[in-house]
Amino acid sequence: MVKIDNIELPDFPLLLAPMEDVSDPPFRALCKEQGADVVYTEFVSSEGLIRNAAKSVMKLDIYEKERPVGIQIFGANLDSMLQTIDIVEKSNPDIIDINFGCPVKKVVSKGAGAGILKDICLMEKLTAEMVKRTNLPITVKTRLGWDHDSIKIVEVAERLQDVGCKAIAIHGRTRAQMYKGDANWKPIAEVKNNPRMHIPVFGNGDITSPERAMEMRDTYGLDGAMIGRASIGNPWFFKQVKHYFKTGEHLAPISLEERVEAARRHLQMSIDWKGEILGVFETRRHYTNYFKGIPHFKEYRMKMVTSDDSKDVFAAFDEVLDKFAGYEFTE
Ligand SMILES: Cc1cc2nc3c(=O)[nH]c(=O)nc-3n(C[C@H](O)[C@H](O)[C@H](O)COP(=O)(O)O)c2cc1C
Repeated sequence: MVKIDNIELPDFPLLLAPMEDVSDPPFRALCKEQGADVVYTEFVSSEGLIRNAAKSVMKLDIYEKERPVGIQIFGANLDSMLQTIDIVEKSNPDIIDINFGCPVKKVVSKGAGAGILKDICLMEKLTAEMVKRTNLPITVKTRLGWDHDSIKIVEVAERLQDVGCKAIAIHGRTRAQMYKGDANWKPIAEVKNNPRMHIPVFGNGDITSPERAMEMRDTYGLDGAMIGRASIGNPWFFKQVKHYFKTGEHLAPISLEERVEAARRHLQMSIDWKGEILGVFETRRHYTNYFKGIPHFKEYRMKMVTSDDSKDVFAAFDEVLDKFAGYEFTE
């Protein structure tokens, strides 16, 4: 069993990675239903929260059914981060996660996200103070280092643990790599193999198949896998990995009916959460992935991504069921 503070998780838990504009409540709920053991919100700006910016505040919404859920925050200013903790606590998450890994320029230039990898002492201090501020477990998501020449993740992880961080998720790339090249899991395994480490060490980056998840567990010996892009349009990925772990075989491809049902539920949950206009608009980006592989799909996709009225989108789903009945997906 793996524990994040008092939260008990199964062996080798699968975590849905925080992803901006993706890991919203409806998507998290779908992933949870399909086997994600922990889900995270997309990152929320501490500066936005303390200024009560509507967009940031909305990101704090969580459903009971998705627990355990972590709210991820980012920032570099201690006062703001501490005030943020007080605000985030009101949403009653199970975990507060600090983003020390975002490579985007506008975040990094303010010293936040992966920008903090240039100042490990500040990283340690922020974490220590945030741990003191709350009874909720504080976890950290970060990268291997700023660049290839400054990878000190073994030391960093130990220092974060020593100031009370309850779990660490590590993306096997440096900030300089952004998303390029392959994720390197070796340094993450070194963190895990440090005999002083006792908090869970989760691996992240390029878990693209059940086999890769198994490699992370068996070859690299990590405590769990944090999954990002492989789940976009494929919330079933968690179930696929778990099935493979249990049986050594791949789950049968997800049927058209299941995909349509997921798309329908995704849209309905988004509308219930954000209202008709935003719900319809912001769910569009998911459809292409749900229906990937279907030939001559453009006409239907266009209806889904251009209709402003949910009735038309739901009608397009019905048409897809009708038109492509019996279509067999290959993966
Ligand atoms: C669209 C998108 C949005 C992301 N947003 C966040 C975020 O808000 N917070 C964060 O810590 N990482 C974010 N990430 C990084 C992912 O959490 C993850 O570390 C990265 O995608 C590597 O994992 P993967 O190969 O499984 O996708 C984002 C990644 C993507 C693709």
